[in-house]
Amino acid sequence: MNISYFGLGYVGCVGAVCCASMGHHVIGYDISPEKVALINRGMPTIIEEKIEELTRGQWEAGRLTATEDPEQAVLGTDITFIVVGTPTTGHGHLNLDYICQAAKKIGDALRKKKSFHIVVIRSTVLPGTNRNVTEIIEKVSGKTANRDFAVVSNPEFLREGSAVRDFMNPPLTLVGTKSSRAADVLRELYRPMDAEFISTDIEVAEMMKYVNNTYHALKVVFGNEVGNICKKLNIDSAKVMDIFCRDTQLNISPYYFRPGFAYGGSCLPKDLRAFTTLAHDLYVDAPVISSIHASNEIQKAGALRIIESKGKKKIGIMGLAFKSGTDDLRYSPIMEIVQSLLGKGYLVRIYDRNVFRAWKTGVGAELLKKKYGYLLDLITDDREEVLAFGDVIVIANREEEFRDIPEHCPGRILVDLVRQYDRLDYEGNYEGLSWGNINVNRKQNEKIQRDIEKTDF
Ligand SMILES: NC(=O)c1ccc[n+]([C@@H]2O[C@H](COP(=O)([O-])OP(=O)(O)OC[C@H]3O[C@@H](n4cnc5c(N)ncnc54)[C@H](O)[C@@H]3O)[C@@H](O)[C@H]2O)c1
Repeated sequence: MNISYFGLGYVGCVGAVCCASMGHHVIGYDISPEKVALINRGMPTIIEEKIEELTRGQWEAGRLTATEDPEQAVLGTDITFIVVGTPTTGHGHLNLDYICQAAKKIGDALRKKKSFHIVVIRSTVLPGTNRNVTEIIEKVSGKTANRDFAVVSNPEFLREGSAVRDFMNPPLTLVGTKSSRAADVLRELYRPMDAEFISTDIEVAEMMKYVNNTYHALKVVFGNEVGNICKKLNIDSAKVMDIFCRDTQLNISPYYFRPGFAYGGSCLPKDLRAFTTLAHDLYVDAPVISSIHASNEIQKAGALRIIESKGKKKIGIMGLAFKSGTDDLRYSPIMEIVQSLLGKGYLVRIYDRNVFRAWKTGVGAELLKKKYGYLLDLITDDREEVLAFGDVIVIANREEEFRDIPEHCPGRILVDLVRQYDRLDYEGNYEGLSWGNINVNRKQNEKIQRDIEKTDF
């Protein structure tokens, strides 16, 4: 393939050289004449393991050149990678000036190009940048996106110091595009790499790099805070974290990573409290660990806010225990929501088969009645009754028997706290706690705003 690189810094130099070493013809463009000149002498623009011999080899083989003319770079190639810098502004925002300048130059060149062109945003950019770049190129070139050209979001995961190795062995290859033609070309380009190729929504691809890097930073800080607590107790934190990482079921695994409702139950709240109190007693500052509880409270407040925002008085709650498959009400986050709703005068009916059975027959029923007696008249094991009662139905547990709720109460308001559905076509108002709109019903999407405005409470 013929490939151009806009930007010959760390990512651009590595990408250009590695693509050339995969047999492609690569031309780099940079606003820095010095970097262009270095490449044209067969020298890398950066210091990195293996980069010198690779650059020289590809330049000698005639597969790697550079130019100060952006038009030449675009017109002579089918794919342009944008790898310009995206620094932080003084106010902490992402500075997209270089990205926009690159997009304008690419658009300018594309005015003269007859064949389909793929623009790949490899720089780290926030969600929405692909749309901006597409608009700029459409405006400047007069061409139509996804017909004459496509803009693909393809975040780079390499680390400096092992950049060449990382480029050739990424954890995965991620592309976000609306063009299947562009996705197919990139799948072919990345085929030599032994990594899963994932084609997804543009915004999902744009979001990934930030989620990854934020999580990596969180890992460092979490490990350090655990280490600081261990030090005070003269415990070897390396051994602790080593064993921690060996649990690939609950610790280093997808478990607990699904956006949804607050945690609760008999263990996490209690044990987190004990651990943060321990840190406090040891005079160890552990702000990340200490703020976990506050974040969990914010999630509960968010759930309550959504329910209240619907402006309806009758609320049907599906699931009361702290999670599905149990009757345990200890620290159940939905209990707090119910208490708040009752305190504010809402009418509440609750369906929870397990809790209802435990109250009727279970061990400790008397204690439960004593502690949560005020719920006795509200809870039932008749699902249809609660579905018929609520103007707002709140799904608080991921019970299998809740999957068909949308079919049983059309035209209602569903508030989903637990991501019970991956995607649904519901002719009613659906809102999830921590994810964008997954209700594909067009009529409903148009109606949502009007429904919210007509409140009766
Ligand atoms: N460095 C890393 O380890 C790394 C890893 C992954 C992702 N990223 C991301 O990749 C992007 C590039 O990072 P970098 O470290 O290579 O930056 P860099 O500063 O080393 O290189 C950017 C290059 O872009 C050039 N440039 C600026 N405006 C241009 C324009 N309009 N046209 C052509 N060239 C232009 C600059 O002269 C510079 O050579 C950033 O978004 C960064 O966040 C970096």
